[in-house]
Amino acid sequence: MKFYIASDHAGFEMKNLSRDYLISKGYKVVDLGPNSDDRVDYPDFAKKCANAVVSDKGSFGVLICGTGIGISISANRVAGVRAGLCHDAFTASATRAHNDANILCYGARVVGMGVVESMIDAFCNTEFESGRHSGRVAKIEDCSMGANL
Ligand code: RB5
Repeated sequence: MKFYIASDHAGFEMKNLSRDYLISKGYKVVDLGPNSDDRVDYPDFAKKCANAVVSDKGSFGVLICGTGIGISISANRVAGVRAGLCHDAFTASATRAHNDANILCYGARVVGMGVVESMIDAFCNTEFESGRHSGRVAKIEDCSMGANL
């Protein structure tokens, strides 16, 4: 699996730790920044990661801000992105199995590194279940087209 990872200033340290954890597990990782904990705007980094994931078919993303909320909302504005805001291994696994999420989001002020490692493991080791979930995921794409549901 190949990952693009980014954060804002609040997620900077956890972004670095998460990047190193992914590398230690043998995944290919592209760090899209930031490169310091200077204040930045999370939508800028969400957009970088979202565009990279959509352009590089089959790749995944990790996005981190203080709560995980702003950066996941921003990423989900990009068509083709399904960014799941997760809090534990259960939600990280479920967002792959049910939502076919291609970006894992979490909050550096919400979870610690132990939980992050368990979320990354769960996200990486869970396949999309397809079946009844496929039609729902297809409807997510309709949302980004602004179509009537
Ligand atoms: C930054 O202070 C904070 O607002 C941001 O990291 C994030 O939590 C927004 O949703």
